[in-house]
Amino acid sequence: MDKKKTFYISTPIYYASANLHIGHSYCEIITDSIARYKRERGYDVFFLTGADEHGEKIAKNAKLAGKSPKAFVDEIANNFIETWKKLEISNDDFIRTTDERHVALVKKVFTKLFEQGDIYKGHYQGWYCTPDESFWTESQLGPNHTCPECGRPVQLKNEDAYFLNVKKYVPQLLEFYKNHPDFVPGGKLNEMINTFIKPGLEDLCITRTSFSWGVPIDQDPKHVVYVWIDALLNYLSALGYLSDDDTKFKKYWSNDSEIVQFAGREINRFHTIYWPILLFALGLRIPNTIYIHGLLLTRSGVKLSKSLGNAPSPLPLIERYSLDALRYYMIREVPIGDDGTFTPKQFVERTNNDLVNNYGNLLNRSLSMIQKYFQGIVPIYSKPTGELTKKIYNDIQLYVNEYQNQMDSYNITKAADAAMKLVDLGNKYIEDQAPWTLAKSEDKKLELAETMYTLCEILRIGSILLRPFLVEKAPEALSQLNVPPALRKYDSISNIGKLGGVQIHKGEQLFPRLDKDKEMKFLEDLIDGHISKVE
Ligand code: MSP
Repeated sequence: MDKKKTFYISTPIYYASANLHIGHSYCEIITDSIARYKRERGYDVFFLTGADEHGEKIAKNAKLAGKSPKAFVDEIANNFIETWKKLEISNDDFIRTTDERHVALVKKVFTKLFEQGDIYKGHYQGWYCTPDESFWTESQLGPNHTCPECGRPVQLKNEDAYFLNVKKYVPQLLEFYKNHPDFVPGGKLNEMINTFIKPGLEDLCITRTSFSWGVPIDQDPKHVVYVWIDALLNYLSALGYLSDDDTKFKKYWSNDSEIVQFAGREINRFHTIYWPILLFALGLRIPNTIYIHGLLLTRSGVKLSKSLGNAPSPLPLIERYSLDALRYYMIREVPIGDDGTFTPKQFVERTNNDLVNNYGNLLNRSLSMIQKYFQGIVPIYSKPTGELTKKIYNDIQLYVNEYQNQMDSYNITKAADAAMKLVDLGNKYIEDQAPWTLAKSEDKKLELAETMYTLCEILRIGSILLRPFLVEKAPEALSQLNVPPALRKYDSISNIGKLGGVQIHKGEQLFPRLDKDKEMKFLEDLIDGHISKVE
């Protein structure tokens, strides 16, 4: 048997400074959907997420909460894990930067780079944004000494520090960008090159001494490793790099593994500049893709963020509308790569139009008609005869191809659209075929059977395509159709004609219709409860 191709996908590790909100859920949902799709396509997938637990900001928050930093992050990391369970995130591991395996790797990497001369001791005098944990030069600052990223005031730092020899690797980095034009899709590298590389990239300060909540270096223990270097290494420590058991590292970081890392646009620079440089210095391969996704903003264009306290938790949304309604909204309504908003009106309309009227209704109508006209048994049928039906099978194939192409390049918004259009073929087909009229004439029995059979195939294939997004409702639809297990697999999509004779199990509507005014009011109140703090 051929060895399975490996696929490694990661999210950023979120700061364990406060609980999660729908912005973080956004990144988890898109990466989870891709991980699930790749598993369906037969890849050996490793999907990683985790918590970034060190640094000045977290030490401060712990103090404010009257807790030790470790007790503080333990509570928050557990909350992350519980939240992701509720969102059915299918991660294979959860890395914490306080894990012993991680701390050990950070120390080893520091020692390796120090010994090979890529790290040297110096003095840092410059600006620092604590909420963003980032260093800035005078010329990069916003007006009145503010952080150019988040607009909050920066502090002047004046401390001994170790530096990473970043400048040395810039030519190699530029050469890499040139030879790998798809490294950062969507043209998101140009801004980085123009803003940070062209004006001259400085060596990066990679230790801090003014607080102790971090990984101390063996060479000089009053220094702790800068939180971003610490954090980026999670992608390797979770694989066991430089540990006694590096099986996963050898497997998922090998040259023939497909590696994609997702990060929001505000942390583009760390992932597309410093991360590859760190990997060059370690002599390791670079990921195939760094996918920079957009952010969820408030209605007035402010980023939803923990430190601004303006973002709702995903949990009340899931409780009221189902997990899949939230997942679908994030995937379909926020074009991946662009910024988006969580808008009550769009949420209600998207749910009602796509999930209730299109998908859920098609299932319900089709199963009702199979009950009525065929005693609940899918008619036996093998080959399309009518012209319209032949066209339907042809269109199904076109949408499957479109879906696959889009998923393979991580364009999940367009992939979800293709899957939903495939489902919509069913609704149009019902109107065109008018099964209720066919049922009236004895000589149209065959055409009626062909129609009902074809609707089952549309629902089967549509549900398989929607399954990475609608993790509860798509399997539920396949169960109501009572599709045999072998025909639920992605590989069986083109195995048409095998559903005849199956006894359906019609159940509840997949998605209840939302009352627009009532639900918009509920959502406005939920969001305003948070957003009023900043607007
Ligand atoms: N700890 C760093 C990342 C280290 S990765 C080696 C960090 N953490 S964070 O908690 O601020 O999370 C940043 C990421 O969370 C973003 O890049 C994005 O993926 C996700 N999001 C946080 N807020 C978001 C929105 N408002 N909208 C969409 N995604 C958001 O930076």
